[in-house]
Amino acid sequence: MLENKRIIVTGAARGMGEATVIAYVSAGAHVVAMDINDESGAAVVAEANKKGPGQAIYQHIDIADKDSVFAAFDQAATHLGGLDALAHPAAIQAGADPSRVNVDDWDQMFAVNVRGTMLTNQAAFHHMKASGGGSIINFGSISGQRAEPSAASYSAAKGAVHSWTRSSAAAWGGDKIRVNAILPAMATPMYLEAMALMTDAQSDASYWMNHHSISLGEKYGDPLTDLGPVMVFFASDASRFITGQLIPVDGGQTNTR
Ligand SMILES: NC(=O)c1ccc[n+]([C@@H]2O[C@H](COP(=O)([O-])OP(=O)(O)OC[C@H]3O[C@@H](n4cnc5c(N)ncnc54)[C@H](O)[C@@H]3O)[C@@H](O)[C@H]2O)c1
Repeated sequence: MLENKRIIVTGAARGMGEATVIAYVSAGAHVVAMDINDESGAAVVAEANKKGPGQAIYQHIDIADKDSVFAAFDQAATHLGGLDALAHPAAIQAGADPSRVNVDDWDQMFAVNVRGTMLTNQAAFHHMKASGGGSIINFGSISGQRAEPSAASYSAAKGAVHSWTRSSAAAWGGDKIRVNAILPAMATPMYLEAMALMTDAQSDASYWMNHHSISLGEKYGDPLTDLGPVMVFFASDASRFITGQLIPVDGGQTNTR
């Protein structure tokens, strides 16, 4: 389904980025996988290439750093011979009560999750425009749609990603570049780390807030089987008339509560 598609995937070292690299290589795409964690990123690429039929290479990126992003995207587009899609799951997560968020943590959250989205999307835009169009797939969150008292800065940053996704979709549609955001609920290292830090009381509250509302089985999804095919669809021409959307891939969590 993605034969000859030229794709960049950020956050490729684990979680949904890892699953996306595997799904794209399985669908025949040419992929440049990027992360700040080089050892795991390179291992993901080696694993994906074993099965093919597509091909991936690995490149370092720090999505919060403008020079790093533009250099990495230029190098990737040269290697690929253009750019058709960007999948952008790279992000950080942190818990913080609104009364205890400090400036350093707030700035770090916005540097990675918001500035990182702006920079990667902008860098992709220039290459996609030259390629005649493309698809940008950002990652939002249910946390950006609702009150999140125990993760206030993360919630604020994801709300900003949602707004950016709508604005860039509006601005770039004329260049045939579509911009959407996936709002996932997947069992990944980020999810498992957040669960591991919870007290029993927080874990109980999380069940009622997060798991109970997943009407398809009350469990977070599997990135490979529940998200991978959706990522392939959004990188493919089959999604050519969808832009500016926030798409929950969450077993019903967002809308069936
Ligand atoms: N897991 C969930 O259920 C869930 C729910 C809602 C939203 N999300 C969002 O989905 C996306 C993917 O989440 P995940 O669970 O796969 O996360 P994850 O923590 O498992 O993976 C994130 C990846 O991003 C990379 N990364 C972090 N900072 C970086 C930087 N500065 N430069 C380059 N790479 C960097 C990490 O090294 C890691 O490989 C994120 O945007 C997350 O906020 C996840």
